[in-house]
Amino acid sequence: MEKIKVNHDFMIYTDAEKESALQCLSNSDSSIFVGNTISNFEKKFAAYLDSKYALALPNCTLSIYATLQTLGIEPNDEVIVPNLTHASSIYPILMSGAKIKVCDFMPNSYYYNIDNIKKLITPKTKFFIACYLYGMPLNIQEIKALCEKNGVTLIEDVAQAFGTIINGKYAGTFGKVGCYSFNDTKMLRIGEGGAIVTNDKNIFNKIEHFRHVGEVFNSNKKSSVSSNTTYRDLLFNGLSNEGRGLNLRPSPITFSTGIKRLDAINNYITKRREKLKIYVEQLSNISGINFISNFNISDIDNYAPLALWIVLDNKYYDRNKVILGSINMGIPIGSFNYNTIIQNDYFRNFIVNKSDILNNSQYIRDNSIFLPLYESLSTEDIKKICDAFKYVIDNYKKENEIFDEKLYDEEISYFDGFYLMRRK
Ligand SMILES: Cc1ncc(COP(=O)(O)O)c(C=O)c1O
Repeated sequence: MEKIKVNHDFMIYTDAEKESALQCLSNSDSSIFVGNTISNFEKKFAAYLDSKYALALPNCTLSIYATLQTLGIEPNDEVIVPNLTHASSIYPILMSGAKIKVCDFMPNSYYYNIDNIKKLITPKTKFFIACYLYGMPLNIQEIKALCEKNGVTLIEDVAQAFGTIINGKYAGTFGKVGCYSFNDTKMLRIGEGGAIVTNDKNIFNKIEHFRHVGEVFNSNKKSSVSSNTTYRDLLFNGLSNEGRGLNLRPSPITFSTGIKRLDAINNYITKRREKLKIYVEQLSNISGINFISNFNISDIDNYAPLALWIVLDNKYYDRNKVILGSINMGIPIGSFNYNTIIQNDYFRNFIVNKSDILNNSQYIRDNSIFLPLYESLSTEDIKKICDAFKYVIDNYKKENEIFDEKLYDEEISYFDGFYLMRRK
């Protein structure tokens, strides 16, 4: 079979988004102090998620950091996290001087193991950060119930699951605060950006204060230092700071494109679901090729998927060999380009339960591969990828030059979490 050719393009902005950025540049909306761009985005974002309050921030990492800081994280507090997630869920904890405990998953699943979590909770446990990956759902209701029972604050890292619905509610709206990312590998991509949502007015006020060290921020005649502080107060009485703070002001120009992307986001999500359905049709029932088991095929219309997540059965396949065959066939392919938290040389220093054996999360880490759904791929491209992938699998045990390491010395490009080899 010939190597396939598919698109591997970078950020694509629509005309409406470009127009919105130009307008923002041409008038005072580009000013964070008097423009309305950020507050317009926040209103839309909160309404979309059926949440009371939203705050735009520079990225998701800082959204998690601002949340932990304003909710009073202290050195030596313990925070439970999944043993497999992006470093951005971990650094904000370490930067706060706290310790981590890592929990395992159910077999072949990204559902967290509740019995394992129960054993990790102690009076020192202050937060649980539930992370979603690739738009897949979590057993978040069980996690929430457990947190509530034990006085642990649940924060959701929804960087990778904006738009995913679990039992009729959006991911990110189960815990105290949901933290989102809009970077260029995410569903709502605007280059860089983040946001939090919450239904708690007090938390909203505190994160708003944290975000911009008390500066006047919007043009509704009130300062965001506190929703009760007016320009008049500031003019005559000046600011009074309360609690921790930093400058985490987001860029209005970026968010002016986000407003337009949000208007059209259901369209983007639907297209990805349609592509995911093609993968499922084409790649189901192949021995040793399993979809992550919390992915329920009959529920695709509730997911906002970033990729097809395959967990290879290591009795049949060596992951690296499948990657080699795929990349040599021109398939954009991804893997976990980070290890489990417990295997991370730096993070290990801060793990309380570092001698635990967490086989399920390690298995997922070592045997997962991802096939792409990004916008510039057509449904025809997805079919080509499926045919080429089946060719890789059919030829896996045969002598075939696509598994020859020597072919693998060409230029690799990267986009949206996927690697593609380009012939020179
Ligand atoms: C699970 C997860 N959390 C947090 C982040 C951080 O997002 P940001 O790049 O907006 O800081 C990412 C980014 O890739 C992520 O995948």
